[in-house]
Amino acid sequence: MHARRASDQDLPRPHVTKDPPTQTQRWPALTQSTMPSFVNKWTFFTPVMMGLELLRRRGLRSAIGAVHEQLPLTPATRVLDVGCGIGTVLAQLKPYGCRLSGTDPTGAMLWMARRRLPEADLFQEPAHAMQSIGDASQDVTFVCSTLHGFDPDYRRQVYAELARVTRELVVVIDYHENHNLLVAVTEWVEGGDYFRFVKTVDDELAAAFPRMEVQRVDPWESLYLCWMRTP
Ligand SMILES: C[S@@+](CC[C@H](N)C(=O)[O-])C[C@H]1O[C@@H](n2cnc3c(N)ncnc32)[C@H](O)[C@@H]1O
Repeated sequence: MHARRASDQDLPRPHVTKDPPTQTQRWPALTQSTMPSFVNKWTFFTPVMMGLELLRRRGLRSAIGAVHEQLPLTPATRVLDVGCGIGTVLAQLKPYGCRLSGTDPTGAMLWMARRRLPEADLFQEPAHAMQSIGDASQDVTFVCSTLHGFDPDYRRQVYAELARVTRELVVVIDYHENHNLLVAVTEWVEGGDYFRFVKTVDDELAAAFPRMEVQRVDPWESLYLCWMRTP
C-alpha cells in the first residue's frame, strides 16, 4: 500500500462534502458503524466477483474506452462508481488517472476495493443515500451490474441520487433483454429484479435523465449513457 504524499493531503477535495478521513482513520469507522451490514447476501458473492473480474476486464475496458470517446477521462475528471464492489470498474479507470471515488454498502467488497485502490475515496454507503458525496461533485458516475438487482421503487430513488451527485454523465453498464440461459439462471439464483429490469431499463433511464443513448457492449449487456444536459 502506498502512503499518501504530504502534498496530496493538503489538496482541497471539493468532491466530498466534509473533510474525508485519512485511510487509517477510515478503518475504525468502517468496522464500528457497519458491523450489522458487514455480512449481507453480497458478502457471499465477493469471491464470485473476484473470479468474474477476469472474464469481464476486456469488455469493461472497451466500454470505458467508448465513454472516453464521448467525454475525455483525464486526471481532472472526478469519477464515482456506485456499488463499486471489489473495485473492478475503478481498477479499469485507473490508467486514465481520474480522481476516483466509490460507494458500496457491503463491507467485504469494500475491504477488497480499499486494499487494491488505496488512492480512491471509498465509502460504505448505499446508492440511494450517498451522504459523503456532494451535490454535482462528480463529473462522471458509473453504475455497473448493480441496478438490475434493485426493485423499481428503489431504482427510482437511486436515479434521483445519481442525478444529485453528477455534473455531466451517468454511465450505466447493465443487461439488456437477451436470451442467454446462463445469465437467466444466474440472475434467478441472485434473486434481484433482472427479469423486469431488462424490459423497462431503456424507458426508465430515458425518463430519469435529460438525454440517454444506448450502445451494445456484448450480446447481453449495454452501455447506457445518461447525460445530465441536453445538447
Ligand atoms: C454484481 S455486484 C457489481 C459490483 C461492481 N459494480 C462491478 O461491476 O463489479 C453488485 C454490487 O452492488 C452492491 N449493492 C448491493 N446493494 C446496494 C445498494 N443498496 N447500493 C449500492 N450498492 C449496492 C453489492 O454490494 C455489490 O458490490
